[in-house]
Amino acid sequence: MTEKKLTRRQALAVTGGTVSAGLAGCLDNFPGGDSSPETGPLPEPEYGDPDRTYRLTATESDVSVASDERHDGWTYDEEYPGPEIRAREGERVRVVIENDLPEETTIHWHGMVLDGDNAMDGVPGVTQEAIQPGEEFTYEFDTEPAGTHWYHSHVGLQLDRELLGPLIIEESDHHVEYDTEETLILDEHLPGEPRVETSSRNGRGMGGGFPDAPPAVGTLVNGQLPREPTHVDVEEGERIRLRLINAAAAATYRFGIEGHELLVTHTDGPAVEPVSVDTLEIGMEERYDVVVEAQSPGRWPIRIRPVRSSTPPGRAILDYEGSDGRITEGGIGRRMLQLTDLRSTDSQAASEGTPDRTVDLTLSGTMMSGDAWTINGQTYPDADPIYIAPGEHVRFRMVNRSPIRHPMHLHGHQFRVGDVLKDTVVVPGRMGQVTFDFVASNPGGWFFHCHHLYHLETGMARVIRYEQ
Ligand code: C2O
Ligand code: CU
Repeated sequence: MTEKKLTRRQALAVTGGTVSAGLAGCLDNFPGGDSSPETGPLPEPEYGDPDRTYRLTATESDVSVASDERHDGWTYDEEYPGPEIRAREGERVRVVIENDLPEETTIHWHGMVLDGDNAMDGVPGVTQEAIQPGEEFTYEFDTEPAGTHWYHSHVGLQLDRELLGPLIIEESDHHVEYDTEETLILDEHLPGEPRVETSSRNGRGMGGGFPDAPPAVGTLVNGQLPREPTHVDVEEGERIRLRLINAAAAATYRFGIEGHELLVTHTDGPAVEPVSVDTLEIGMEERYDVVVEAQSPGRWPIRIRPVRSSTPPGRAILDYEGSDGRITEGGIGRRMLQLTDLRSTDSQAASEGTPDRTVDLTLSGTMMSGDAWTINGQTYPDADPIYIAPGEHVRFRMVNRSPIRHPMHLHGHQFRVGDVLKDTVVVPGRMGQVTFDFVASNPGGWFFHCHHLYHLETGMARVIRYEQ
């Protein structure tokens, strides 16, 4: 163990053993300390001591999306979005989760590659047994890669009952400087119980439509309806970094700020060469970080519009210090980010050139045994694993034979798509094609699936396995 790590562990002991989300302000400040013993009800460490420990309780609770509007939901620590988990690049984090729900649950650390830690991935039946009601489970992982990530339940439709929260890993170096930051979590307002519905919006199956989400009734930003919007406070002259997370189960959003440009600096965590645009589309589970120059005092609407959907839009307010309270109108320009605009700041040499193995994947729907979503005609869990081998350069070639987009997500690896590293990529509908490459460097069983929760729930998933 390095000296630096020892100091951090001692610092944690001084703060009481558990760093809760409410203490995030202390993160910049690791006071030196004596080797006082750790206190608190933590289970025995399995991998040596982590740098930070959090505790979460998954529980039934009220969810309030406006002062006069609440519904019954399931949350972490009775908060929606759940408490922020924040750490620095290169640390190890422990999260003890207690299941107070009436059902089993797990947590997936969306964006973490979990190198050598497949058992921490939170996929029930693949990497762990689900956590039973009344039980606890301890997750531990390295904070790799840095960036804007999130955590969510990976059991059934629990993600759509508000079991989600931000997971922020601070980089050691910033390629674009900024003064302040704010995380904006975009989500659908679905006050009822999530359940699979069939809808002809997404093509026709036997029962008239393929499986889909129930229609949402609104768009939330940090858990707030637009009539009581989240305020993002800035001072004139500041540069603010916005960490955008699309946590919706079934919506793609168009994002823009009236009167301001967006300098796109990261996607799905990793840094990209900065690109200036007016708007961007963010698919289910994708993340974008943008830096905004606060040069135009006022109170400007931040607009979040669901794409190809009749769900009402969401908004937040970019609120300059000293503004007079009225909303400033300004419009949003037309330059929209394209995936091909993005270039990673890292060299991608390992996944360039000819792949050792190419896997062809057709995304579609079936009318055979009840309507379902498929990959190569199979419906998970009645589906074969996809085999790869350690060290290989693997290429996934996806074609979408359905009319709607599918945001495809690979666990345990980052892949190169175009010139950028991501963990989720949207495959457009009507014969859209996307190819991505990755290096098989993390043995284990890893989920690969559509992040439209209702497509995942009805079969659009596979397990990737390493050949021995
Ligand atoms: Cu966001 Cu399989 O996960
Ligand atoms: Cu899908």
